[in-house]
Amino acid sequence: MSTIKKIGVLTGGGDCSGLNAVINGITKTAINKYDLEVIGYIKGYSGLYKNEFIPLNLKAVSGIMHEGGTILKSSNRDNLFNYYMKQPDGSVVHKDVSDVAIENMKKENVDALVIIGGDGTLTSARDFHRKGIKVVGVPKTIDNDLPATDMTFGYNTSLENIVDALDKIHTTAYSHERVMVVEVMGRNTGWLALEGGIAGSADVILIPEIPYDLLKVKAKVDEREARGKNFTVIVVSEGATQVGGGVVIRETIEDSADTQRLGGVGEVLTRELAALMPYKEVRNTNLAYLQRGGIASQFDREIGLRFGVHAVDCLMTNRNGVMVRYEGRDVNEVDLEKVVGKGVTGETSKGGAKYVDPNGQIVHAAKSIGISFGD
Ligand code: F6P
Repeated sequence: MSTIKKIGVLTGGGDCSGLNAVINGITKTAINKYDLEVIGYIKGYSGLYKNEFIPLNLKAVSGIMHEGGTILKSSNRDNLFNYYMKQPDGSVVHKDVSDVAIENMKKENVDALVIIGGDGTLTSARDFHRKGIKVVGVPKTIDNDLPATDMTFGYNTSLENIVDALDKIHTTAYSHERVMVVEVMGRNTGWLALEGGIAGSADVILIPEIPYDLLKVKAKVDEREARGKNFTVIVVSEGATQVGGGVVIRETIEDSADTQRLGGVGEVLTRELAALMPYKEVRNTNLAYLQRGGIASQFDREIGLRFGVHAVDCLMTNRNGVMVRYEGRDVNEVDLEKVVGKGVTGETSKGGAKYVDPNGQIVHAAKSIGISFGD
């Protein structure tokens, strides 16, 4: 029999569709099945640190299942184990303020946490567990780059958004006989570009796992021209690199667990291709945050809800320090120690994230129908 009477929930990292489905699953299971009290910390770990929260009751989660984003708001800053503090003289210090969070939990009689996020957020979840807090993690990211789960929620809706955009881009590509470059997210992995690109009938897909040669991309456009296909749609992942080149960094955010923000490779590629082919109009579209928002797909609602339910079941049966995950068609759990702290940008090169296999089935299928990877 569990001693847990009250749980706290938070959403950290970049938002995505399906977060509200998880919150819905957690809250209803906690209340209906276990008669628990639930609160939601506002803006990720910031809420835990500042003790800012809202009650999560049946009314609070009513009608949120399909909505994108998170009713609890989110932040990809505020690592409480290495908290960024700007001093009055402008200098910066980093402090471990996790004990403040633990004190806040005690004050509110919160017995356990459900922490929803990507690698950075779940690494802190692991660290709270190491300090004796009962924690269950729920894996979230549109990038689908977390190892140990076949799928994260949010990924499927983003794919739908990408495919919808590619369908629209095709009409302009065709009508104006243009080369259309479309940049998508994914950090250092190419899942969104690959699976979105295939379904959206891209002609070229450039992903971090397969460095591209600009001349091969040009050759694909030329080959299409020669066949009377006077337009080409190129999907490029934000983390894609040219052979021997590096990633394009949009921004560095010092107080984030993942300091590097990628972005801008589409613009660079567009410029370089246009210089190589003055006979074609080349245009760039960066899907940016359009691919992260919106009504959640059926899959993300279902998996998000099931993750939420399972997270509470885990806590109430003494399985904590774990991350729920999707395996085959089942939801089960795995130790946080085994799966986090490995996948943030900058560490992915050490092999921590879940990458696209350049020799795997999906790339094989794409190449079989003539999609170029610029290799
Ligand atoms: O991890 C999700 C993600 O959307 C990445 O695909 C992207 O690189 C990053 O977050 C963008 O972060 P931000 O919201 O800080 O710009």
